[in-house]
Amino acid sequence: MNGKLWAGRFNTGQDNLMEQFSESISYDKRLYKYDILGSIAHVKMLAKQSIILQEEAEKIIDGLRKIERQIEAGEFEFNPQDEDIHMAIERALINLIGKVGGKLHTARSRNDQIALDERLFLRDISIEIIDRLNGLLKNLALFAKEHIDVIIPGFTHMQHAQPILFSHYIMAFFEKFKRDKERFLDTIKRIDVMPLGAGALAGTIWPIDRRYTASLLNFTQISKNSIDAVSDRDFMIEFLNNCAIFSMHASRLAEDFIIYSSSEFSFIELPDEFSTGSSIMPQKKNPDSLELIRGKTGRVYGNLFTLLTVMKGLPLSYNRDMQEDKEALFDTIDNCLMIIDILSKLIPKIKLNIDEIEKSLEKGFITATDLADYLAFKGYAFRDAHKIVGSIVAYAITKNKTLKELTLEEYKQFADQIEEDVYDYIDYRRSVDKRKSFGGTSRANVLEQIEEALKSFDEK
Ligand code: ARG
Repeated sequence: MNGKLWAGRFNTGQDNLMEQFSESISYDKRLYKYDILGSIAHVKMLAKQSIILQEEAEKIIDGLRKIERQIEAGEFEFNPQDEDIHMAIERALINLIGKVGGKLHTARSRNDQIALDERLFLRDISIEIIDRLNGLLKNLALFAKEHIDVIIPGFTHMQHAQPILFSHYIMAFFEKFKRDKERFLDTIKRIDVMPLGAGALAGTIWPIDRRYTASLLNFTQISKNSIDAVSDRDFMIEFLNNCAIFSMHASRLAEDFIIYSSSEFSFIELPDEFSTGSSIMPQKKNPDSLELIRGKTGRVYGNLFTLLTVMKGLPLSYNRDMQEDKEALFDTIDNCLMIIDILSKLIPKIKLNIDEIEKSLEKGFITATDLADYLAFKGYAFRDAHKIVGSIVAYAITKNKTLKELTLEEYKQFADQIEEDVYDYIDYRRSVDKRKSFGGTSRANVLEQIEEALKSFDEK
């Protein structure tokens, strides 16, 4: 015999190595609050359905609340011999209130219990993430508003492309993170399904009331198939996918800021509070916070793949493999919450180096598209205009001049229709302001987008 709650059919105890190998209590204790919440709802339902007596339910609920307080006060002893949080709490309950504690697990299995705990936990964490993403979004919009007059070179292929408002660039990330937030919100629909009552896999012979349990726990739906309920973690994979997409966005922002803060660019100065020095090179100020965001994105992807891989070959229904979901999940959550908070704090403290940005705007023939548009307005087909401007750029390179520095006579060698007004078209500020197409980089557009964003936070 061994000391496990399930020991009845065994002759010998478990090997120590097996105990170590199979325990999850060292990390699933993080779910204790949800385990107790779920148990209390379950017990209330059992009493309402006269499956247990009212006074038995009261004793069990009192015991569970006491255990919760012990855990919160750090007075609860987590023992690897208990395997997981479910059995640790059940054993403690029986120790505390006696045999009647053993009625808690009537009409329930750990298979539906863990699915419930994880869904309750993920519902709360999703709301927490959404809340913090709102903070990040607001800070991005405020930062964009603060720098509404700054123009930077926009890049494609990491080459100077066209001038854009810095705020427009920042608001691009606003849009990305907003979609990330919406994804978390949407996934709640699929998390918000109450699995309890599925039992081990086949349901139960007890006359339970699943809708009542669901209403006590504020679930809007109950699972429709007991085998499905205990055999899937798709809701969690979806959540981990949302985290992976979010961190991909965060990583790209980090990458840009790392480049913009390099001495080759010097567009921005990162706050000291989020930078690190070198142990050997005294001059160094390294963008470690941003590098770590980029790096941690790797493990967030890895965690998604951990779970996809754990699940892909599992025969229905529950298999112990599924216990491997938790560490990956917790790791992703901890890292994503930190990434959101670091970005929220770091972004408002970034300083722009306007002199360097303006110097850079003079390079790379950044208004060449405007010059081609100018020629197209003068009657050329855009394709022909494009070709002419290509030749103008090639000529300017040989003369080591910018578009602004070419004389009208030089321009006229390429197209007679070019007049003095060409210099308006190749001015980067005007280039930006003319891009009034919806979603384009003009100041009016971007400001409207920012105001709309900020208003949406006031309404909350
Ligand atoms: N610790 C287990 C898990 O996380 C709980 C379910 C255990 N069920 C079982 N039949 N062993 O998946």
